[in-house]
Amino acid sequence: MEELKVTPWEVSGELNEASYSKLVKKFGVELITSKLLERIEKIAKGKLHPFLSKKIFFAHRDLNLILDDYENGKSFYLYTGRGPSGKMHIGHLLPFTFTKWLQDTFDVHLLIQITDDEKYLIKSTRTKKEIEHVAEENILDILSLGFDPKKTHIIKDYDNAKELYYYATDVAKHTTMSTIKAVFGVTDSDNIGKVFFPSMQIVPSFLLSAISGKNLRCLIPYAIDQDPYFRISRDVLPKLGYYKPSSIISKFLPALQGNSGKMSSSVEESAIFLDDSEQTVKKKLMKYAFSGGRDTLEEQRKYGANPDIDFSFNVYSFIENDERKVQSVYDDYKSGKLLSGEMKALAADSINLFLNQLRQNREKVKNHLSEYMFNPNDFVGHRM
Ligand code: TRP
Repeated sequence: MEELKVTPWEVSGELNEASYSKLVKKFGVELITSKLLERIEKIAKGKLHPFLSKKIFFAHRDLNLILDDYENGKSFYLYTGRGPSGKMHIGHLLPFTFTKWLQDTFDVHLLIQITDDEKYLIKSTRTKKEIEHVAEENILDILSLGFDPKKTHIIKDYDNAKELYYYATDVAKHTTMSTIKAVFGVTDSDNIGKVFFPSMQIVPSFLLSAISGKNLRCLIPYAIDQDPYFRISRDVLPKLGYYKPSSIISKFLPALQGNSGKMSSSVEESAIFLDDSEQTVKKKLMKYAFSGGRDTLEEQRKYGANPDIDFSFNVYSFIENDERKVQSVYDDYKSGKLLSGEMKALAADSINLFLNQLRQNREKVKNHLSEYMFNPNDFVGHRM
């Protein structure tokens, strides 16, 4: 079997429950226990985001300290990001719905870093101009989820280079070459941008503390491949006088890409892109979506489907807010009452509804884009 390799710039090997356990041990993160889930649920007034109950966000670092601060009336902030590598599909966007849920639940500021510089330096063959275009589009897509402009701040690395670079030198000064080699797998033949770039991604984990002069905790939601950055961050920040950042960590989303591997961004026709037409969404689901159904109608009626591995059911459950509706679809699908084609049609309808809403929001956001752009002056002094 191919060796498991997970770094921010390379993921290879099979990802299953066993490999996640291995990563948890290797990276030294904690699993989210049912006790911790209960604590979050209580704070969220009885509502857990499905990404938590389904253990898609499954691990963390020091999440308790964030909850302690929150319960003690002390503020913290959220930080997440996106590398603008191309057009966004629904699997890219959904983690941002989780971040939005965290922001709404805790009513806190959120930094979203768009790492255009990273995409230029690493792996991409695109020109800077192309990357900038992708970045602009991605920003609109993310903001179309309805983030609060007063509390949501987009950091675009090239545009915010001044603030980022100023603090990145502090990170760089405390990070050795051997750490970067070990943590990121950088080798002598790599370009030197790869060695410095991690400092840029670490900065937002203390940026608001640095600017406001108030020491705040930072909670970072990310997929587990991003962990190397924040391991270094946890080593370096205390040396600079800040708190170690806390993390809430997700698996990759195979449930959204279909376990058959068919639904992925590398297969253009098979991922659901945000600008797909209603017809296209339907067609893609019918043709490509991995189904947890049985081979024949008879078997399906008799034994029912397996909703947990079904692409259509999973997407439906992440988009539909009415938990009771989701539960009844789950029960019907599992019992054989609902057939795979019907499940796909139901999912197509809810995806189309969701995408139409996003498109409307996107148009509105376009005229207010500047309100979302990170401005250090918002945080100077103590306006947190
Ligand atoms: N490097 C990430 C990517 O390529 C983008 C990113 C920047 C990020 N800062 C982050 C992701 C913080 C999660 C959390 O997608």
